[in-house]
This record gives sequence, structure tokens and C-alpha cells, in this order.
Amino acid sequence: MTTDPPWWRTAVIYQIYPRSFADASGDGVGDLAGVRGRLGHLRDLGVDAIWFTPWYLSPMADGGYDVADYRAIDPAFGTLADAEALIADAAALGIRTIVDVVPNHVSSEHAWFQAALAAGPGSPERERFWFRDGDAAPTNWRSSFAGGTWTQVADGQWYLHLFAPEQPDLNWNHPDVRREHEDVLRFWFDRGVAGIRVDSASMPVKDPALPEVPETHADGEHPFIDRDELHDIYRAWRAVADSYAEPRVLVGEVWLDDQKRFARYLRPDEMHSAFNFDFMGRPWDAKELRDSIASTLDAHAPVGAPATWVLSNHDVTRPVTRYGRAETSFSFLAKRFGEPTDLGLGERRARAAALLTAALPGALYLYQGDELGLPEVEDLPLDVLQDPMHFRSGGVDPGRDGCRVPLPWTRDGRSYGFGPEDGAPTWLPQPAGWGSRSVEAQQDDPDSMLALYRAALGVRRAEEGLRGESFEWVDLGPDAIAFRRGDVVCVVNFGPEPLPLPAHREVLLASAPLEGMAVNGPLTSTPPTSTPLHLPADAAAWFRA
Ligand code: GLC
Repeated sequence: MTTDPPWWRTAVIYQIYPRSFADASGDGVGDLAGVRGRLGHLRDLGVDAIWFTPWYLSPMADGGYDVADYRAIDPAFGTLADAEALIADAAALGIRTIVDVVPNHVSSEHAWFQAALAAGPGSPERERFWFRDGDAAPTNWRSSFAGGTWTQVADGQWYLHLFAPEQPDLNWNHPDVRREHEDVLRFWFDRGVAGIRVDSASMPVKDPALPEVPETHADGEHPFIDRDELHDIYRAWRAVADSYAEPRVLVGEVWLDDQKRFARYLRPDEMHSAFNFDFMGRPWDAKELRDSIASTLDAHAPVGAPATWVLSNHDVTRPVTRYGRAETSFSFLAKRFGEPTDLGLGERRARAAALLTAALPGALYLYQGDELGLPEVEDLPLDVLQDPMHFRSGGVDPGRDGCRVPLPWTRDGRSYGFGPEDGAPTWLPQPAGWGSRSVEAQQDDPDSMLALYRAALGVRRAEEGLRGESFEWVDLGPDAIAFRRGDVVCVVNFGPEPLPLPAHREVLLASAPLEGMAVNGPLTSTPPTSTPLHLPADAAAWFRA
């Protein structure tokens, strides 16, 4: 007899960027009441949990990742009562809620930072941050958002911010900082939240000597990335999470090239899982993705943590766009305006990628709008852009607004159903024709991306082989990725030629019509056949061996 693993090991987790999901109030900005009104979409899609990017009080200098008060919902999104009602409504549909926690920094409007500014140099209030004297910035560290990491205040002191100046870094050597975050976790766990996503999880601890970043350094000795002391913080958080009757879950945003160092965050007394950015960044290439799958599974096995599979999020180029380019890998540094893109090819590959990721063992993360096959919006007028990554790069980096455009729900209407008909314009303009990719336009079309995602998540849930954690490679040559889980086999064809499918009893799902099959469409169930079916280029199929 097999018992099902804990929910988070195999969950499908849907990421909501609340500003852009649905607007009930009509102010052009998404809100929690909007999400409550659209939960049926997530039920029909078949997700297990929602991860909300920050919904807290925030001046929105970085889309909410500049938190002014963790215990208050930003008025643009609603109230604490709305959040509680949303958590309850989702739970009633069997959908759990994960919230974002940002330990590295707070907003410059946060009460602690305001108190630190008011109290002046040498005060205990400044000890919670990194304030230093000096004629020049204390270090030459580079910000993740381009530029330096220090800003000078009126009295001459400098404070550290690894991101924007509106996001002062906290001092994790200070007991108040530790205590406050554990309280914040309890605040949300007590409200029924099932887990937290830990923002920039490899960055909060700094070397207090503030040395320059050396050319090379020993593991754990970079001045601000992946320091060994971080693990004590996450062990303490795990203890908080484990103190609940239904243990809460920690998911880390850990960007590290070294998979062994990455896996240290997933030891049994630390986080439960972390985003797999190695996989997300790889190009559309059989060898590259096969290597990533293999090294991911190898790195996770010793610590017993489930892998996660991520195609995109609110920070990166949408898959339909990225996979339609000459360069299909993702890197922040390489983002530029005006890259030629074949959206048809990108969509074809994104469909195959959906079946690939949904078939792999572990948790699946799905960013809002990817189930609709939305492309990156690359022609937003410059004067509507909001992302500090764009501004701090001197306008070279297009920034992340293009994957944050409000969702289309209906074919027609002023905001394609995002907000009420008489509502204000959406906070980022939607492109013309956005309605053709709406939920309404796709839901009854068996060939749509939405139909493919719904079918895939349904089969994933129904098939015992896909529910467990077994995994076995199948060799179908250098241009294919193929693996078997129970009696289900997933094949992806990256090569230019159609690939003959091995012997099978039944095709469960295909991202494109198979060649040699009478019935086309993404969801097909076929009896045994004597003519070999072929999987076309840039397509994936699931079949029963
Ligand atoms: C994470 C978030 C990103 C944010 C940054 C700073 O990388 O995903 O959106 O800008 O942290 O908090």
C-alpha cells in the first residue's frame, strides 16, 4: 500500500501577482476582492495552492517587495478582512495559500527605518539596518538592480540596500530583526496561511566587516550571498512552521549556481523546497534541459527534498516569448528591447514545456497568465514603465513590467474583464487583441493553452504514476527527453524531425497533433494502433506504456 506524500511535495502552485490578476474595485489595479471573484478559474484549472506576491502595505517602489507593514494589506488590494476571507474561500475549494516574506529588506517607509532616520547616527534604531559613516560609500558592492548599494542620508551616514534605495537592508545580527520575522510568520500562519515564500533567501546575512567582494572566495564567505549563518534563521523558521498541527511550509527563492550549496537550504530542518531557477534559465535544448533535470534530481535526493519546476514568474520573460527567440535561455543581464521573436514557435515550445514540467516529479509552479499562453508585452510605452530594474539600468534593461500586464478574462470589454466596464484604465495598458487570449476565448477551445493546462493538471492528479515520486529515464536519442513514471511516459521532441513514439497502450495527452493519428487535438485517448505515431518537432506527449 502506498500513502500519498505530503501535499507540498507534489503540489501545483499558482502564483498570483495581485496588482494584475483581477480588479473588483475599478481603480485599474488588481485587488483581493478581484481574486475572490475569480477563484473558480483556479479550481477549474486544478491548482493545489496559490502563492501571492506581497500584498502588504507598500509604497510600491518595487511592486510590493518594499514592505512598509507586514500586518496590513495595502489599501489598493483591500483589507486584512479581505485577506482572511480570501484565504477561507480558497480553502473551501481545497486551495491553500502561501504568502511572500521579504527578510532582506523593508520599505524605507517602514516604521523601523523612519525611526532610524529620526534617531540619528549611533542610535539603537540604526542598529537594525546597516548604517555607516564615511566620505564615500563604504563598499563597491553592485546592486541586483544595477548601480551601487549605498545611499547617503542628510546627516552624512550611508545605509545599505542590495536592491533599490527604497529597500533598506535589515541587519540580521540584531535580535529584534529575528524576533519580528518569527512574529510575522505566526501572524500569517495563525490566519490559516499554509506556507511562506522566502524572498531573496540567500541574501539577508552580511559579513559585518563589510569587505569588498573578492575575486574568489570559500563557500559561505561571500560578503552578502549564501553565508552559512543564514541556515540558523531558516532552522528557527522551520521550528515555527512545525509548531502547527498542520505544519506550515517554507519555499525559498534561492538563486545559486552551485546545486550543492542550493540543496543545503533544503536539509530536513530547514526549508521544504526552493525554486529551481537552474531549470528555468536553460535554453530550449534537449541536452541542456536533460542535464538540468538530472542535476536537480541528484542535488535534491541526498536531502530528501522534492524538486520544483518553474518556467517563469513575475521577474522573468514569459516562456511564449523567450522560447520564440534565437536565444531561448533566460538571464537578467541579457534582457534587451527589440529582440526578434517568433511567437508561434514560442507558443508551440511553451506547450511542450508545460507537459514536460507537469510530468516531472516534485512541485510545479505556474505563473498567472502562463496558462493562457500570454506573451511578454514588449511594446509598453516608456512612460508607463514602473520597474526599478528598468530605471536603474539607465533604460537598457526593459525591466519586468512586460510580464505583469493585467490579465484578460473576457474577449471584449474595456479591460477584457480585468475590471468593471466603468473602471479606471488598467495600471499597465493591455495590448490590442489581448482578449483573444482571455479565459473566455480559450475555455471552450480544445486546442487552447488553457485546455492543455487543465487537461495536464487533471491527468497529473488522476494518474498514480504522476502522483508519486518515481522517475526513470527512457532513451529515445539525443534530440528527445523521455522518462517514465509508473506506467506513464513523457516524451519531448526537441529535434527537427518527427520522432516515432515507442509502443504504447494509450496516448493520454499531446501538445500538438501527433502524425499518423486520426483524431487531432490536445486531449486524445487512442486504442492500440499498428501504424507508429510520430511526435512532431517541439512537441510533447504523455502516453501509457
Ligand atoms: C525577488 C523578487 C523580486 C524583487 C526582489 C527584491 O527577487 O522576486 O520581484 O524585486 O526580490 O525584493
